[in-house]
Amino acid sequence: MESINVLLIGSGGREHALAWALRNSPSIGKLFITPGNPGTEFCGENVELDIRDHEAVLAFIEANEIGLTVVGPEQPLVDGIVDFLETHGKAAFGPTSGAARLEGSKSFAKEIMQKYNVPTGNFRLFERNEWAAAEAFVEDNETWPMVLKADGLAAGKGVFISKNKAEAKEALEYMQNDPALSAASYRLVIEEYLEGEEVSVFAVCDGDTATILMDAQDHKRIGEGDTGLNTGGMGAYAPTPVLDQDALEDIRQRIVLPMVDAMAAEGIPYKGILYCGLMMTTKGPQVIEFNCRFGDPECQVILPALETDLIEIMMASVYGKLDYIDIKIDTESYYTCVVLASEGYPRKYEKGKAITGIPADSDNLHVFHSGTKKDDDGRLVTNGGRVLNVVSKADTLSDSIHKAYDAVSNISFDGMYYRKDIGAKGLKRF
Ligand SMILES: Nc1ncnc2c1ncn2[C@@H]1O[C@H](COP(=O)(O)OP(=O)(O)O)[C@@H](O)[C@H]1O
Ligand SMILES: [Mg+2]
Repeated sequence: MESINVLLIGSGGREHALAWALRNSPSIGKLFITPGNPGTEFCGENVELDIRDHEAVLAFIEANEIGLTVVGPEQPLVDGIVDFLETHGKAAFGPTSGAARLEGSKSFAKEIMQKYNVPTGNFRLFERNEWAAAEAFVEDNETWPMVLKADGLAAGKGVFISKNKAEAKEALEYMQNDPALSAASYRLVIEEYLEGEEVSVFAVCDGDTATILMDAQDHKRIGEGDTGLNTGGMGAYAPTPVLDQDALEDIRQRIVLPMVDAMAAEGIPYKGILYCGLMMTTKGPQVIEFNCRFGDPECQVILPALETDLIEIMMASVYGKLDYIDIKIDTESYYTCVVLASEGYPRKYEKGKAITGIPADSDNLHVFHSGTKKDDDGRLVTNGGRVLNVVSKADTLSDSIHKAYDAVSNISFDGMYYRKDIGAKGLKRF
C-alpha cells in the first residue's frame, strides 16, 4: 500500500493506543491527532481543530492530503462526521450517524435486535408521554432486579439496576427530574435483568461482513471487587478465559453477522468497530448493548495484539473489502491494562500533579496517556480523572498482570489511585 496521511480524532488513552498502532503501520505517512495529548505527540503531530465544525475538518483534510480519518470517541460519530466526510469523498473509519444509533439509542438497538432475532433480554419501551404506563409497569412487576435505561448517550449514567420496587420508583423519578438524563431519556427502556459473566467482543465491520478482533473484560467500578461508583473504566485485560475461539465464532454467527445483515437490510450499513457488550447466560450469549467504537481502556489491550496493519484493516472496512484481508491477532499472549487515576475520581479531583517514573516503551510494555499535559515548564502533569494506562504483554494472564503492576510501582504522582485487582476475575477461571 502507498503511504497514507491519517487524521485521528480524540484525546484519551484509546486514542494514544490508536496513534501508537497507526504510527507502527507500514502504510503510515503523516499522522495528525486532534486534539491529542502529550502521549500522542510521540506518534504524530497534535493539532487544534474544532471537530464539530465539519467544514473546518474537511479543509484540514484537503490541505494536508489526508487519506484516512479515524474517529475515536462516540459523540462525533453520532454527530455525523463520517456521513459528512463520505459525502465529500473522504475515507473515514467508523459508522455513519444512522448506524451509530446502535450506541446512541438503546431503544433503537433493542428494536433492531428484536426484529432480526438477535439474542437480547426481554424489554418494554415507553415514550416520554407514557411515564404513567412505566410507573404502572414497575408497580406490577414481580421479578427483580429490573433494569431501567435512559435512551440517549448518557456517559454511563443512564442505567439503573433496581433490586426492588422502591429502587425502581426512585430511578424513574431521578430520570424524570435530572436535566441531563431527562434529555437523554426521551424514551425509557425497561429490560430483563440478565445473569452471567459479562464480556465485551470487538468486531470490525465493512457494511457487508465482519471479523472478530478479540474479546476483553473491563472494570467499570472505582473500587476493588467491582464496588463503588461507575467510571469510564479502571482497567481491562484480553483475551478472556470466558470465550475460546469456538465461542467467538458462535458469537460472530449468532450476533455480529446478523447485526451487520440487519443494518444493511435497514439501509444503514454498519462500518467500523462494533463493540458487543454481552452477558454469557445459561441460554447462551445475550446482548446488553452495542457501542459504535473501541472501548477505553479495552482498545489499549486489543491493539497491541493486532499483527495485521491497522491502516489496511481500516481501509478494508471503509471500502467494503474485509473479505480480501486476513486479520491476524496474537491469541497466544495476554494483555493487561491498569488505569492510573487521580484521587477523588470519578468525583472531584485535583489536576497539575507532576508525574514521574514512566518506563520506556518496549515490545511488551506501553504507557498510554489519558489525562496528562505539559505544564509551562514542560513537565508532565496530571490533567484529568484517568491519567495513564499501563499495558503489559506476557505468556500468561498472571504474568501480564504482575508485569503491569511492576511498572505501576515505578510511576508516581500526588494522589495516584488504581485498582489492585485488574484481571483477577479472569485468573479465577483458570
Ligand atoms: N439487562 C441487563 N442485565 C444485567 N446487567 C445489565 C443489564 N443491562 C445493563 N447491565 C449492567 O449495567 C452496565 C451498564 O449498562 P449498559 O447498557 O452497558 O450502559 P452504558 O454502558 O451505556 O452505561 C452493564 O455493563 C452491565 O453490567
Ligand atoms: Mg456499557
